[in-house]
Amino acid sequence: MRAYDIIAKKRDGQNLTKEEIEYFIQGYVKGFIPDYQVSAWAMAVFFRGMNDEEIAFLTKEMIKSGETIDLSEIKGIKVDKHSTGGVGDTTTLVLGPLVAAGGVPVAKMSGRGLGHTGGTIDKLEAIPGFNVELTREEFIKQVNSINLAIVGQSGNLVPADKKLYALRDVTATVNSIPLIASSVMSKKIAAGADAILLDVKVGNGAFIKDISEAKKLARVMVNIGNNFNRKTMAVISNMNQPLGEAIGNSLEVREAILTLKGQGPKDLTELCLVLASYMFVLGKKTTNFEEGYEYATEILYSGKGLLKFGEFIKAQGGDERVKENLEILPLGKFKLDIRSSYQGYVKEIDTEEIGRAAMIIGAGRAKKEDKIDLGVGILIKKKIGDKVEKDDILAEVYFNDGKKVREAVSIIENSYKFSKEKVNKPELILDIIT
Ligand code: URA
Ligand code: CA
Repeated sequence: MRAYDIIAKKRDGQNLTKEEIEYFIQGYVKGFIPDYQVSAWAMAVFFRGMNDEEIAFLTKEMIKSGETIDLSEIKGIKVDKHSTGGVGDTTTLVLGPLVAAGGVPVAKMSGRGLGHTGGTIDKLEAIPGFNVELTREEFIKQVNSINLAIVGQSGNLVPADKKLYALRDVTATVNSIPLIASSVMSKKIAAGADAILLDVKVGNGAFIKDISEAKKLARVMVNIGNNFNRKTMAVISNMNQPLGEAIGNSLEVREAILTLKGQGPKDLTELCLVLASYMFVLGKKTTNFEEGYEYATEILYSGKGLLKFGEFIKAQGGDERVKENLEILPLGKFKLDIRSSYQGYVKEIDTEEIGRAAMIIGAGRAKKEDKIDLGVGILIKKKIGDKVEKDDILAEVYFNDGKKVREAVSIIENSYKFSKEKVNKPELILDIIT
């Protein structure tokens, strides 16, 4: 077999066999197929797509490239959640404690990743003392005792994806349904959960901009999950504006704590309640969505979620006083308000651009080696449909580096579009795929 022939076959729109996919992925991981051939192959997949069978072979091969985690020592149905990535997506920090407090074990591995802000693991590191590295034994013991642990991804989980995702990132081949689906699902399946809830983001702040593409991606991923005997569902949610107010690591921890106190932004709160409801259904705590929603709402507003958050922070060495004392979180030394020069309604927000502004001031990494500034970020004070008067604050920027902030401010200013006529608030939950 030759890599060249496999690339040419996909270029010409033919389906690859199990053996060809096996050869290609193994060859890449072992290093005898070079980056430039894999780049060409990824571009061919981008344009030609893959059928369900090819996607299943690809996912299986990716999983096989590394270790898989056995969580069978944890009692109960372990439900994992994954977001395909959005701007200011603070959900895991709220959802973990909420679902754990409801009696469903959450044994979560999270990434750091590139982008507008760090991943969940970076965000948690904004809490003084918090330890993201547990041994396997500690991890299992903690979930068995308090239902919740969140740790960094272990060294050798789906190494094929580590290489391939990094390559796609620099070859404009991220937004491909078969490649996203196999990337996400291989990691989720290798991480050992029994059931998986996917939050597929769609809009100008997501990889997928178009609702019919989002539904297709969701269906492909749900299919993969079910074929691997992991009960899988997907919620399709709107990413045409940042979720909640906060974009930035410590700002998002703060936002998560406020949300667990019942004082969070409406959209973030609603999305967390919806996702929690489906996790309760997948974890067989409730029989249907409506019951799950009621249960999730009770846990949130009774403060049980916040209590669980405190237990979780303490168990992983963090300073649990954070839940009453937000001042212990790092915060940018300077703050700048961005004000409206317009009167009317917010019509659009270029979400990807807002994310880029957050990255420029240091909230996220452009390259793997970059260091994150945990205290910086943006608070979005006006969202789509909000009425604005001249001089109203649109956004607040927390920063440390005065040189970088100018570019970020002009990006944020240019991200807002206004209208004289009233604008409806966008729907948050666009579809459910089971
Ligand atoms: N998230 C992933 O983990 N992989 C992708 O390809 C896209 C989003
Ligand atoms: Ca947020």
